[in-house]
Amino acid sequence: MASTCAALLLVAVALLVVHLSRKLFKQHKLNLPPGPSPLPIIGSLHLFGTHPHQSLAGLAQKYGPVMSIQLGQKSCVVATSPEAAQEFLKLQDANFSSRPHLRCIELIAPQDIVFHDITPVTSHLRKIIVSELTSAKRLKASKYIRTEELAHMLRSISKETGPIQVKTFFYRMSTNILTRMVLNKRFLCQGQGDDHNAASEMQEFTEIIEEANYCMAAVHLKDVFNFIPKWLDPQGLDTRFRKLKARLDKFHINMVNQHREERRKNPISEEQKTFLDVMLEQLDNSKYEITEELIKGAIWNNLFAGTDTTMVTSEWAMAEVLRCPSVMKEARAELDRVVGLNRTVQESDIPDLKYIQAIVKETMRLHSIVPLLAPHQSIDATKAFGFDIPAKTRLFVNWWGIGRDPQVWENPLEFVPERFLDGAPHAKTEFHGQHFEFIPFGSGRRKCVGISFAALAVHIQVANFLHAFEWSLPTGLSPQMLDMAEGTGMAMQMQNPLVAIAKPRLPPHVYEG
Ligand SMILES: *[C@@H]1O[C@H](CO)[C@@H](O)[C@H](O)[C@H]1NC(C)=O
Ligand SMILES: *[C@@H]1O[C@H](CO)[C@@H](O)[C@H](O)[C@H]1NC(C)=O
Repeated sequence: MASTCAALLLVAVALLVVHLSRKLFKQHKLNLPPGPSPLPIIGSLHLFGTHPHQSLAGLAQKYGPVMSIQLGQKSCVVATSPEAAQEFLKLQDANFSSRPHLRCIELIAPQDIVFHDITPVTSHLRKIIVSELTSAKRLKASKYIRTEELAHMLRSISKETGPIQVKTFFYRMSTNILTRMVLNKRFLCQGQGDDHNAASEMQEFTEIIEEANYCMAAVHLKDVFNFIPKWLDPQGLDTRFRKLKARLDKFHINMVNQHREERRKNPISEEQKTFLDVMLEQLDNSKYEITEELIKGAIWNNLFAGTDTTMVTSEWAMAEVLRCPSVMKEARAELDRVVGLNRTVQESDIPDLKYIQAIVKETMRLHSIVPLLAPHQSIDATKAFGFDIPAKTRLFVNWWGIGRDPQVWENPLEFVPERFLDGAPHAKTEFHGQHFEFIPFGSGRRKCVGISFAALAVHIQVANFLHAFEWSLPTGLSPQMLDMAEGTGMAMQMQNPLVAIAKPRLPPHVYEG
């Protein structure tokens, strides 16, 4: 008996040795990109820090623009130069177009098209998003919505006498514009009137968005470690994700039902269609298998991705301009010349506002709101710059690091909009994903679909804030003392929100319109 046991044990040990040596041998043969040596189990998780883009940019200085790193048990590669970004997002775009399967997506938005693998159906939906929400034709048809929301915003700021939290106003404007374009609903008002249903709907909407922001930014241990069993929920996050999903489903169904009822009573013209109308039509007449779940994914993609991001960029822009009186002066000179002192800035003014455009670009460069872009994942094993990249390697493109790379940008830490003006080195640099030194929206088949909407919203917000108000900081605060620390979260906000005082600068009738 004992000898049988011993024999079995021996065989087991022998098998283990063969297995391990094979594994070691195989890994040994791979020529992975350089990177910090991982610790057992946690890999280099401890090196990611509270602001991974900052830590990874630091590590890239030591290990180079193509770096391997272990995030727990997941192998990752980090790209930190325009050339590396181009290699992965353009030359090998197809191979890196997958996404890691993250627990929050699986539980909250299983049909999310940003994180879903690319299939004919999701490609079709992406095309619809572009043509129905952000194409020039649609943006023109929805212009009245943005004009109204802009007027609301300027009016409510003009009534404020004390310090205001600047981003609140951006948030309200961007969110209302999006929810009106998508759902024909306006959720954020100052007074809530006495319609109880509407008030509780608004409250629910705000809470869902807040909770979603929390959930999407949380680091789930199951995304990093393979050994945690499915049923175990050490952080309580699975439960939280499932609760949010249930809440979102209920809210969504309610929206859709209300919408259908309303359309039955009051049919609308082609022009007035919202994104939801277009999506519901897809349900019935598409040659693709469009499900309710996919529609929900596409709708909430737009709402989650489109509200915070524009608000955050506009807030950083305002903070930078308040810190640089010379930039403020230059921007004002342009606005006064192009727009004049008797009206607000219109969308049609933007092409003529070159300096404002440069301010927006410079803000995107220094304050990338999605600093590592959304993570990609390789489909098959491949090679890049002579290194082996195994299948299912996560790819982080450190756009934040690229935006501050001294080899690409002169004085990278200074806010200098002039670098994007005619005659300057980056005069022709655009953010549409062709110039790999400037990819705030990513590039390739996974690039952000909302670029034209986001760019329009940020330009119009920043231009009007600078044009319509004289800004000052609360007493005791000099521009140099503004805290520009980066916060954490899904879209990278200022850690301490910008608070400032706005004094109307134009004649009163401008704010009444
Ligand atoms: C990924 O790259 C490898 C090596 O270049 C290639 O064989 C494979 O077909 C690529 N896969 C995809 C999905 O493009
Ligand atoms: C300013 O605009 C108002 C309203 O559009 C108009 O009545 C007024 O004449 C304008 N003033 C100047 C100086 O152009």
